[in-house]
Amino acid sequence: KRPAGAPDAKLARPVAKVGVVGAGLMASQLALLFARQLKVPVVMTDIDEARVAKGVGYVHAEVDKLLAKKRLAPDAAARTKALVSGSVSKEAFADADFVIEAVFEELSVKKQVFAEVEAVVSPECILATNTSSLSVTAMAEDLEHPERVVGFHFFNPVAVMPLVEIVRAPKTDDAVLATAFGLARSLRKTAVLVKDAAAFVVNRVLLRLMGEVTAAFDEGTPAEVADLSLKPMGLPMTPFTLAAMVGLPVAQHVSESLHAAFGNRFHVSANQQALIDAGIRGLWAPTPDGGHEIPTSTLTLLR
Ligand code: 3HC
Repeated sequence: KRPAGAPDAKLARPVAKVGVVGAGLMASQLALLFARQLKVPVVMTDIDEARVAKGVGYVHAEVDKLLAKKRLAPDAAARTKALVSGSVSKEAFADADFVIEAVFEELSVKKQVFAEVEAVVSPECILATNTSSLSVTAMAEDLEHPERVVGFHFFNPVAVMPLVEIVRAPKTDDAVLATAFGLARSLRKTAVLVKDAAAFVVNRVLLRLMGEVTAAFDEGTPAEVADLSLKPMGLPMTPFTLAAMVGLPVAQHVSESLHAAFGNRFHVSANQQALIDAGIRGLWAPTPDGGHEIPTSTLTLLR
């Protein structure tokens, strides 16, 4: 059955090579997913060799884990590793059919990246963004071919979260949209077409929940009480653990975007900002027995 809003699948273009801009956590998870499921070459780029090597190293380590768990056969593991490469130059995208960016969540950075990629790719190459909160329309508007841009938003951890939000900008071509839906299917994800509104659908809902927890925390409820109270409520993860997993700066950025778009329905936490300013990226640290606890250094800052 054709997903709501998806154009005729026959319009989809073949994708024989994928580019990923960025080699951070989300980008590396995407590179692994595309190589594993599409079985096509995937090249990742970042601003320096160290970042690129870290991204490729992440993919190799995840493949080794899948191999150890017998989720991947040895030949598939070797093939997946061989399909993923890295480069510091966007020239590596010259023959790509589909390039997805997963760089820092800042409109000017994303626009710059798209302009640089457009300068090296073919006119048919699709430019996708994994943005979680920014306007896809704004990202496309200054390009020579804005019709090639589509939002393709995945969730962390990419390997296990089944959803992808697809975003159509006003000029997005039907063939581009059809390709995105076709790719989502090949990647074994459930695709939904969402409006190009701040944070689309899922993060709007998630951030209301996280906003209430951080508001309780900012109002004086101890962090562990506000957070762990939600554990027996059937959530797969407590809100602060989730914030730590996506990264506190990313979580803060999304809440700021939502606050700018929708006002006080979305809370921007002063305490969360204080943690970020203090260099804390996550809140809960793993314990040797497999549990999680707030490190003492963080507790000192929180009280
Ligand atoms: N990478 C790859 N695989 C992972 C993983 C990761 N980071 N984390 C967990 N997994 C796999 C495990 O290996 C395991 O697979 P297996 O069955 O083959 O061994 C499976 O997922 C289940 O993991 P666990 O048994 O260890 O743990 P849980 O049952 O608690 O599930 C979870 C882990 C799936 C991460 C679950 O806690 C969950 O769904 N959490 C909520 C995640 C969420 O809401 N994400 C959205 C964040 S918002 C976002 O990303 C938007 C962004 O743009 C800001």
